[in-house]
Amino acid sequence: MGTPLETTKNCQLILALDIEDKTQAIDLVKRTGDGLEWVKIGLQMFTRYGPDYVREIADLGKRVFLDLKLHDIPNTVAKAVQSVSDLPINMLTLHTCGGREMMEWAIKAQQDYKPDLQLLGVTVLTSTDDAGLQELGINEKASERVLSLATLAQTAGMNGLVCSTHEVVALKEKFGSQFDLITPGIRPAGTDAGDQKRIMTPAKAAEAGSTYIVVGRPIYQADDPAAVVSNIVADLNL
Ligand code: C5P
Repeated sequence: MGTPLETTKNCQLILALDIEDKTQAIDLVKRTGDGLEWVKIGLQMFTRYGPDYVREIADLGKRVFLDLKLHDIPNTVAKAVQSVSDLPINMLTLHTCGGREMMEWAIKAQQDYKPDLQLLGVTVLTSTDDAGLQELGINEKASERVLSLATLAQTAGMNGLVCSTHEVVALKEKFGSQFDLITPGIRPAGTDAGDQKRIMTPAKAAEAGSTYIVVGRPIYQADDPAAVVSNIVADLNL
């Protein structure tokens, strides 16, 4: 089973750093101050700037969540986990719909090569709705699909999931605290929702049972990112 991280708080903040330019991204991280522990690096920046960029963010004293959403045959995913094992990362995502065997192989590689890495399973992307699942030949509703993929992830030995804030309660009811739950779609009260539709405030997400919240634009588009970070962290610790 993947290793759960030692946490001091009930719910922690992760900054989704979805910025095009590396220099701006690094400057932004510096401006967030010490209140921010976690930075999420996604496909946009990793495919452009690669492993060196990951090292640069980690060198700023941040823990890195590498959001690569791996989904391939078990051997390829296991090799990808092995390949990132020399990077200073603390979390890595894969798609639970890659199947039990793929998750098991990934966990084996994580245990063999990077025991302090937490693997997180993505359930149903929030961009996929019931109609989108039907188009794929899947007859479950998205809310049911999340629970069945979580069951598969549990069988494989996963201990962290990425999900919508609105699925946290059902996951908690079914699985208790077996999974760390990482939720995007967060907006501090009074901030612009942008393209996010089903949003929650940081405090509500923490109350529902999120272990980590992922916040992007409300922080990196702010005039004073450090102030937004400290307000969110204060909200989470209420
Ligand atoms: O800017 P914003 O706070 O909306 O950023 C949310 C982050 O969470 C983005 O990196 C987005 O890709 C990610 N995400 C999401 N919904 C999901 C999974 C990931 O918004 N279901």
